Amino acid sequence: MFRCYASAARVAKVCNQNKLLRTACVSSAPPLPSSNVTQSSRSSFSTSYQPPPNNTYHGTPVYNDIDIGINKITDAAAARNNDADAVFVVTGASRSMGLEFVKQLLTRTKGRIVACILRPGSSPALDDALGQLSRDDRARVHVTPLDVTNEEQIVQLRDELQSMYGRVDGLFNVAGVLGDKTTTPGPEMNLSQLDQTWLQNQFAVNAIGPLMITSKLTPLLKARKGRNKYLRETGSKESVVVNLSARVASMSDNTGGLAWYSYRMSKAALNQGVRTSSHELRRQGTWTIALYPGMTDTDMSQPFQSKTMKEKGLVFPVSFTVGRLLDVVDAMEEEQSGGMYDWAGQCIAY
Ligand SMILES: NC(=O)c1ccc[n+]([C@@H]2O[C@H](COP(=O)([O-])OP(=O)(O)OC[C@H]3O[C@@H](n4cnc5c(N)ncnc54)[C@H](OP(=O)(O)O)[C@@H]3O)[C@@H](O)[C@H]2O)c1
Repeated sequence: MFRCYASAARVAKVCNQNKLLRTACVSSAPPLPSSNVTQSSRSSFSTSYQPPPNNTYHGTPVYNDIDIGINKITDAAAARNNDADAVFVVTGASRSMGLEFVKQLLTRTKGRIVACILRPGSSPALDDALGQLSRDDRARVHVTPLDVTNEEQIVQLRDELQSMYGRVDGLFNVAGVLGDKTTTPGPEMNLSQLDQTWLQNQFAVNAIGPLMITSKLTPLLKARKGRNKYLRETGSKESVVVNLSARVASMSDNTGGLAWYSYRMSKAALNQGVRTSSHELRRQGTWTIALYPGMTDTDMSQPFQSKTMKEKGLVFPVSFTVGRLLDVVDAMEEEQSGGMYDWAGQCIAY
């Protein structure tokens, strides 16, 4: 159990943090063109929510933006999504965004969804969602235990996937940890609050875990590019590795905002892993990106939300965010593999 740092000073700091978050969300960039709104309704999220204008970021990105404004879907994504044999693996599927990825992949694709959860049998949200599925859709979801920090379990997952399916077409590294600042030492507001164990925990879940999973599943993600008969017959069919990152991980964009040392550092490490692995994975027909979801209404962001932020529409509904992130994944091209992108397809400088 982590030490509790609750104090009046901390509460004041969290308030200040919320103020900074608000500032971070407001931008002078123009709103998305109406075609993007059309694109939004293509996704299976609530249509009543209208997102705020696009963010502006500091720094110069080295990748091009991903255009999601014309209902764009690449040949690779269309092939993946229409293939009933395709396999999509989602970590952190017990609740929040991970669970929403499972739900939306069920409607957006025809494939099988492997929902990885930390504590089997302890997710009422997942149980509820599964209970509402038709028999056919329920048969497409395979629930399996996975602590992303446990290498043995990652290897077990790899072996299970190998024997059951022999392939992975999409890996969604969604599980993550931020802390609530009440029951955990993070997110930290200054250097004096750094806690070594917490720092290590953040790196283990947010950076090392996703990279280890990617590493172990790489052979299964291999190449839908003419390397075997099935693929030669169906043509190009790249796989994807999607990693949930955060804007605060960007060095260029870090111009004096929140401290949040351990979270920023661990997600920045994840980003470096994504960019480095993109060069290697590209050779086997696997694309990878880091995604910034925007502040989304989940358990993670709840301690840092304010009534005003919600009233101003600055906290995204989970269904909106995940729909947009899947739009970005479906529209990404090979040249964009290795980049960090936000929910509007804008590239964020590392
Ligand atoms: N929400 C936001 O505003 C926001 C903003 C930027 C980036 N993100 C990123 O988006 C991702 C999803 O965030 P969220 O808001 O959905 O988070 P959340 O509400 O806190 O849910 C976290 C999920 O990760 C799982 N998890 C935590 N540690 C794990 C471990 N060791 N092994 C396996 N699973 C583990 C949790 O499982 P249990 O249910 O078993 O605890 C839960 O399913 C995260 O990577 C986060 O950093 C979120």
